[in-house]
Amino acid sequence: MHRTDPASSRHPLRAAVWLAGASLALACSLPARADTAPAGKFTATAKVASADEAAQQGAQIFANDTFGTKQTWVPSNSFSNHLMTCAACHTDGGKTEGTTPSGAHLPSLIGAAAKYPKFKKKKHEVYTLERQIVHCVRAGIMGKPPAYDSPEMVDLVAYLTQLSRGASMGQQFSH
Ligand code: HEC
Repeated sequence: MHRTDPASSRHPLRAAVWLAGASLALACSLPARADTAPAGKFTATAKVASADEAAQQGAQIFANDTFGTKQTWVPSNSFSNHLMTCAACHTDGGKTEGTTPSGAHLPSLIGAAAKYPKFKKKKHEVYTLERQIVHCVRAGIMGKPPAYDSPEMVDLVAYLTQLSRGASMGQQFSH
């Protein structure tokens, strides 16, 4: 029988080399930004007419984007499962006190952006607002976070910063 298969069992070493090459080729063909989630229901665009427009887009992302998660929750005014979003825990767009699906109490996000960069005692690290958002997408929504320089991230930062309008910045630093 004529064999054209390069992974011929007569040459186990050649087969192993061929397999390694094939899996490397597969890995290289993955999109470069594999850690970046496609937008959920709402697609942000980088071009906006004002910071307010970015914040409005951010509010939509906050309410609707599921970041590719499979995790569900049941909102209090509903009997059906919904995919997780920021709003699953941060109630009313983050403007009121929130509750996690497991019942933990969360403060409102009004004024929160002004507390960043924030020292995280347990980790001995300073978190930017973006890093906190990435953390909430990974650990809260269990989805793929937007890239740091993506329109989705910019819009979420714009939205959260708008919620802190008028708050005094830098209070977390000692004098
Ligand atoms: C499963 C619940 C859950 C979801 C979903 C969630 N968060 Fe959070 N979020 C938390 C908890 C708990 C904290 C406070 C403790 C911590 O940092 O983990 C928090 C804290 C924050 C803070 C910091 C507040 C402060 O005062 O420092 C911001 C900002 C924030 N979340 C934004 C978001 C955004 C934006 C999303 C959606 C991309 C989101 N969260 C989704 C649970 C959640």
